[in-house]
Amino acid sequence: MRLSAKSKFIIIVGDPVSHSLSPAMHNAAYEKLGIDDQFVYLGANVKVVNLKEVVLAMRVMDNFYGLTCTIPHKVEILKYLDWVDEKAKKIGAVNTVVKKNGLLCGYNTDLLGVVIPLEKITYLKGKKVLVLGAGGAARAIVYGLKNKKALVYILNRTLEKAEKLAKEFDVKVLNYKDQKKISDFDIIINATSVGMEPFSNITPIDPSFLRKNQIVFDIVYTPKETKLLKEAKKKKAKVIYGFEMLLYQGVAQFEIYTGKKAPVEVMRKVLEEKLKI
Ligand code: ATR
Repeated sequence: MRLSAKSKFIIIVGDPVSHSLSPAMHNAAYEKLGIDDQFVYLGANVKVVNLKEVVLAMRVMDNFYGLTCTIPHKVEILKYLDWVDEKAKKIGAVNTVVKKNGLLCGYNTDLLGVVIPLEKITYLKGKKVLVLGAGGAARAIVYGLKNKKALVYILNRTLEKAEKLAKEFDVKVLNYKDQKKISDFDIIINATSVGMEPFSNITPIDPSFLRKNQIVFDIVYTPKETKLLKEAKKKKAKVIYGFEMLLYQGVAQFEIYTGKKAPVEVMRKVLEEKLKI
């Protein structure tokens, strides 16, 4: 144990939080870079009504250095911060808070969790992308893709929600009933929880419309290979697993917290071990 009274701590807060893989992923990365005497990453279950007390603690405790917000705190945290990054402001959610010169600064790294893995295999400018879902995850993804000049469409079970989100971000809507048009898209991203265990035998769209060479990215990471990705593979589409999003939002977060380049492969290994994939 190399920690001391000078070590900085970062806490992930959520409700629930015990399933979070972030502490294992970040602490392994600190160890790899030999900075595990300077940083430690912990987790705490916090009710939404108590979030402001956590922020107060962060203000008065000098080495309470970072805060990660997961569900349901990503929106609530905004009102307690001193400064919020433009992208996070537009998305309306913050997952990363860091103390800089005593000020609490908020960022959103969820969008990078989707953009980075996609950009490893394709460019996004001008690509026709279909985002499935219109909730919080979809907001970050739609914004991230629009920012990269992709042609974004939203398909959602509840049409009004898709229309509202599309209007806000100036993108288009694909009606749930027009699923045959799915084959026109270059990239399809599932931003709903459909397919997550224990309901892993369902897909958010009719997979018979998927086709060869499309890229299909599912943000669900339990199971690793969702039914949607299985069906996409059968059609010879390229698939991106949900844990890539978990990994790269964490990589971006690591770099904000430490100012150092993240050891991506160490972080990937931790996720693979924990998710038994
Ligand atoms: P998050 O913040 O994680 O994105 P959310 O805000 O609850 O979660 O959004 C969940 C998304 O998944 C919504 O787009 C939801 O569709 P509706 O707007 O119609 O509710 C979508 N979703 C959840 N369960 C679904 C299901 N069984 N079939 C289709 N879409 C579903």
